[in-house]
Amino acid sequence: MKLSKVNEALSLAKPLEPCRLVVLISGNGTNLQTIIDACATQEMPAKVAAVISNEPAAYGLQRARDAGISTHVINHRDFDRRTDFDRRLKGLIDALEPDLVVLAGFMRILGFDLTEHFLGRMMNIHPSLLPDYRGLNTHARVLADGVNEHGASVHFVTPELDAGPIILQSRISVQADDTPSTLAERVHQCEYQIYPRAIAWFAMERLHLKASIAYLDGAPIKA
Ligand code: GRF
Repeated sequence: MKLSKVNEALSLAKPLEPCRLVVLISGNGTNLQTIIDACATQEMPAKVAAVISNEPAAYGLQRARDAGISTHVINHRDFDRRTDFDRRLKGLIDALEPDLVVLAGFMRILGFDLTEHFLGRMMNIHPSLLPDYRGLNTHARVLADGVNEHGASVHFVTPELDAGPIILQSRISVQADDTPSTLAERVHQCEYQIYPRAIAWFAMERLHLKASIAYLDGAPIKA
């Protein structure tokens, strides 16, 4: 084919749509910021379509507005039952038509119906080396136990809290003079490395969940 024909064919080719992310937050949103920043680079074929917070005062909402991203608040205090909150949240997320739902410091436990509905297309970041230290206060618990390794994990979300298949982890050594806040600071740095990387894998269709196993480039991920 002549070069001019090749160029014509390329210009007619439909550009690849970026992966649509909906990010759920409850607080400061530093992970959200890292994801927004990563989406502005060539390595991340994704865009943050919307940010949802259950906390009206979450600073992450301001970060989203500053980046021109639409924001939504569903205050969990407005619901008597957890299932009603989940139903409203599920309806809103569906209406936003994401390819991937990203939990980035979202501090509500999500129920069975919602997590099953988004199975394989919802990720979370957790500040521990899962399966160790599920739940809250991970840094203080690590120090209390005197373990010498800590870190962060990205995993697919399943109905069981912090128990879904692990996608990527990053480790740090615990030092004798560490406190919960020094650990939190270093674990956050780990999170900023691994979360955008895992999201980029998904956006490039390299990452899948099949029968409770996470696959990268067709091979099962071993945590
Ligand atoms: C992170 O440590 C994340 O692992 C945990 O909540 C924290 C959120 O921090 N789930 P930020 O709001 O992204 O700054």
